[in-house]
Amino acid sequence: MATHGKVEKTALVTGASSGFGLLIAVELAKRGYRVAAVMRDTGKQAALMQAAEQAGAGGRIETVKLDVTSAEAIEAAVADMLRRSGRIDVLVNNAGMAVGGFAEEVPMSAWRTQMETNFLGLVAMTRAVLPAMRAQGGGTIVQMSSVSGLWGIPGFGAYAASKFAVEGFSESLRHEVAPFGIRVALVEPGAYRTAIWAKGFADMHAQPDSPYAGALAAVLRMARRTAASAPDPREVAELVGRLADKRRLSRLRYPIGRGARLLPLVVRLLPWRVVEAATRRAMRGQE
Ligand SMILES: NC(=O)c1ccc[n+]([C@@H]2O[C@H](COP(=O)([O-])OP(=O)(O)OC[C@H]3O[C@@H](n4cnc5c(N)ncnc54)[C@H](OP(=O)(O)O)[C@@H]3O)[C@@H](O)[C@H]2O)c1
Repeated sequence: MATHGKVEKTALVTGASSGFGLLIAVELAKRGYRVAAVMRDTGKQAALMQAAEQAGAGGRIETVKLDVTSAEAIEAAVADMLRRSGRIDVLVNNAGMAVGGFAEEVPMSAWRTQMETNFLGLVAMTRAVLPAMRAQGGGTIVQMSSVSGLWGIPGFGAYAASKFAVEGFSESLRHEVAPFGIRVALVEPGAYRTAIWAKGFADMHAQPDSPYAGALAAVLRMARRTAASAPDPREVAELVGRLADKRRLSRLRYPIGRGARLLPLVVRLLPWRVVEAATRRAMRGQE
């Protein structure tokens, strides 16, 4: 069981109704954490609770109803959790969604939802737990970024912008909170088999008679191929579990998945025209 001295360790995981968040909540519960599993619709908790029971960790998870786009609701939920458990050792900022479409055709409301969810929601959650983590002398914050936080592809500019923002914020944050024993890590997965893909495909922004129709179709073909062969997301949950348990996080960035380790080297070291040409070739794929 994860304990801090004799105190039981607690974790807060956002976006725990499906995908990585569900698996991370179960993984942390298996490791002995008492887990607050955040979801905006607690009516979706059955899959999480079933997975937790199967893992023998059902009693260690409770659901918290929270939409990460509401800063006031976040403050209240964190205060409530602190009243009940006294501490928050681990925050996993995982909740997210992917807006698809070419910049010109994505309405401003969708750009705002993208940033409110993936970036400002993560900032608000982080701000809400920092006073408690400072007071208790430490904690771990795991930010769910993406290869899209390093590499922008056409058709997913809004998603890339949100994840680039997460990267910059977390790079700065790590300096700010290290003196208080607070560890910050970015997890940068490549493509994994979760619901995010189907949700994104069902909600692409495209105008009728779009001048981008051909390019969008090519990007979608590539994305569908990638989604169909994407690996099991459990390895991402296991990585987050290991990071939560570590006393020191020597690295800021933890890339994981197909091509994810190579990508940072490619985008930082190769001449940009080479990166761009390779990206365009990948997007054209099997036209
Ligand atoms: N799967 C991949 O290939 C991949 C790769 C790199 C990074 N990621 C990142 O991994 C994270 C998890 O995504 P996933 O792949 O596991 O997809 P997912 O199964 O769709 O999970 C996303 C979770 O975020 C929740 N969420 C969305 N908006 C929210 C809001 N406003 N407030 C609270 N919760 C909200 C969803 O809740 P609802 O059920 O209510 O929608 C769901 O629980 C995201 O940050 C994503 O960008 C995914």
